[in-house]
Amino acid sequence: MEFMATTTQGMEDVTAEEIKELTGRRVERRKGRVEFEGSLKEMYRVNLRARCVNRVFLILQKRKAETLKDIYRISREIDYMWIISENQSFAVRATRVGEHPFTSPEIASEVGRAIIESFRDSTGKRLKVNLEEPDVEIYALLVDDDFVLSVNTTGESLHKRGYRKYQHHAPIRPTLASCLLRYSGWKPRNSLLDPMCGSGTIPIEAVLMAKKCMNHRDFLFKKLKIHDKEIFEKEKKIEERGENPKRIVAMEISPKHLEGAIENAERAGVLDFIDFIEGDAKRMEQYLDLSPEFLVVNPPYGIRSSRKRAIRDLYEGFLKSAERISGESLLVVITAAEKEFKESLKKINGEVIEERYVLYGDLPTKVFKIILG
Ligand SMILES: C[S@@+](CC[C@H](N)C(=O)[O-])C[C@H]1O[C@@H](n2cnc3c(N)ncnc32)[C@H](O)[C@@H]1O
Repeated sequence: MEFMATTTQGMEDVTAEEIKELTGRRVERRKGRVEFEGSLKEMYRVNLRARCVNRVFLILQKRKAETLKDIYRISREIDYMWIISENQSFAVRATRVGEHPFTSPEIASEVGRAIIESFRDSTGKRLKVNLEEPDVEIYALLVDDDFVLSVNTTGESLHKRGYRKYQHHAPIRPTLASCLLRYSGWKPRNSLLDPMCGSGTIPIEAVLMAKKCMNHRDFLFKKLKIHDKEIFEKEKKIEERGENPKRIVAMEISPKHLEGAIENAERAGVLDFIDFIEGDAKRMEQYLDLSPEFLVVNPPYGIRSSRKRAIRDLYEGFLKSAERISGESLLVVITAAEKEFKESLKKINGEVIEERYVLYGDLPTKVFKIILG
């Protein structure tokens, strides 16, 4: 079988690496997703253990399509009997990327019609549509003229980890936080600091990664006709030896956010592994008793123009302080204020070893990897 796993655009290589490690399979990169071949075992494994992935889909068909007619024809040719039972309901979700003279709902409607007709031809039965809570969720993706029809095996996106008791106003997606940690090269044996931790997502994800915690949810694959309970239970029982991280420190200037981060860490079951400090990232040396080997941070971006000056001051103050506490530390930063960050960087001795474009929701951002002097 062929699967695709969705991820943050710009982090496909990091996600491919994670899936390769988990499955031992070759993984192909696409825009915002990766593809790999495998059996049910690999699909269960990625759903249970991947930390960078949002959803895993079973690919039914991959073809070129330019018109709605093409989409209908391709979807109509597929036999759905091996996936859906006649008493089950289904829904089609569609996403479109690029210029097309039709909309995503129109794609969903064509695919839905094709599925009903194909299924009726094979069984004489009409499938029920349930857009709210379907048993089987079909996903139609059109990127320019690349059409992929697939089945959602995950259900709700894996970025919804379930530990966000406290909701920050600008949180990072946990799956993106995990991508940043992997991208940085941080390992549990290294010390780690997030100096502007907000609601604590980056440090929490670091502990969950170190301890190799599994994802929990009501996976949609359980409702698929091909689901094999025995293989799934076996996969779930495999004990992956995690480890306690060496030292993880989370700093935040706002007492309210820090309190929220502590609540979230508690909910995630990782409170004992993170030191929370109320402090100012512009003066980190005043609060810290360590020189962190890794800093991974999602600072404010100051999107509004009135905030640009303040953001430049914050970035400059933070980078100078990072330089003071660094012993050749590695810094990974995600920011939408690229200009302000680059200007601030000129004030220190950091060496940018890589920068890349990452789509953070709808927001274009830059991720920098820097060795601090
Ligand atoms: C984009 S948010 C981080 C969100 C976080 N990654 C999460 O998932 O919740 C940036 C955070 O930096 C904090 N911050 C701003 N200036 C700071 C400073 N000088 N020192 C420490 N934290 C600061 C803000 O209060 C805010 O919570």
